Amino acid sequence: MDVQLRDEEIATFFSQLEKNLGVSLDISKKYLLEARLKPVSEAANYASVGDFIRYLNRSRQTSWHEKAFAALTTNETTFFRDPAFFLTLQESVLPTLIRHRSDLKRLRIWSAAASSGQEAFSLAMMIRLYFPEISNWDIDILGSDVSLPVLAKARKGIFNESEVKRSLPTHYLDKFFKKIDGNHYQISDAIRSMVRFERWNLISDSFPNGHYDLILLRNVLIYFSAENKSVVLEKLNKLLADECGALFLGGAESMNGNLKYDVNLNYKWTFYIKKGISLYDR
Ligand SMILES: C[S@@+](CC[C@H](N)C(=O)[O-])C[C@H]1O[C@@H](n2cnc3c(N)ncnc32)[C@H](O)[C@@H]1O
Repeated sequence: MDVQLRDEEIATFFSQLEKNLGVSLDISKKYLLEARLKPVSEAANYASVGDFIRYLNRSRQTSWHEKAFAALTTNETTFFRDPAFFLTLQESVLPTLIRHRSDLKRLRIWSAAASSGQEAFSLAMMIRLYFPEISNWDIDILGSDVSLPVLAKARKGIFNESEVKRSLPTHYLDKFFKKIDGNHYQISDAIRSMVRFERWNLISDSFPNGHYDLILLRNVLIYFSAENKSVVLEKLNKLLADECGALFLGGAESMNGNLKYDVNLNYKWTFYIKKGISLYDR
């Protein structure tokens, strides 16, 4: 059932969502409101989703706004999503980064729309399994997302049977997970300790300090307007390490004509580097 609101009221709410999160929804997506906002509106003691949205429209930013916006994000993710992307990391990008950072013995990696953590954990497991020579390095993997519920799940590192069976190769399951009840598995402490999860809003927060060797910004720009995409890509360009830094997007995403990046098409999965400075063959 659709919420009982005029299209103008829905448009006002969607424009607040876009201003806060960058996520751009048009009126054809109003069918999402009832199902996604029902639990939040009930927790806030509103009789209907319509009343709740009217309240959000007329009041200034509150924690209910944050919860409502987070409930409208799409958090779909899987372990080892896009095998060609992970192969590019394993065969090409990680070996190059490891060579380049062998003096420093440090890698800084950011999964910038991490959802419940599968992307960051997949990478941590891959590093542990295939690159034992860097087991004593300082490896910092930051997983960030704007949604607190998905971050809470990521921090626990607990996934149900269908989440692990869906795309996780069995040798990873056997090595890095333990079954904790009939339907759930927990990822090992060794892998959990490699990844920290924090709340960052790509649109409104100033970004984490320092330079990143690897930034994964996958399957989030598709929800942003062209203008917000450009703002985020511009900010990330400054955070990418010179020479070795690599930025990966999702399969349906592109650079939007941003001139500060070069594109590397020569690999199984396209990635981006700072314009004019590259260790990678193109
Ligand atoms: C579809 S998931 C992508 C997960 C993972 N990167 C992958 O490719 O499997 C998109 C994530 O982006 C997050 N997101 C949306 N807007 C955001 C924003 N403004 N700042 C940070 N994260 C955001 C959502 O909460 C959601 O968890």
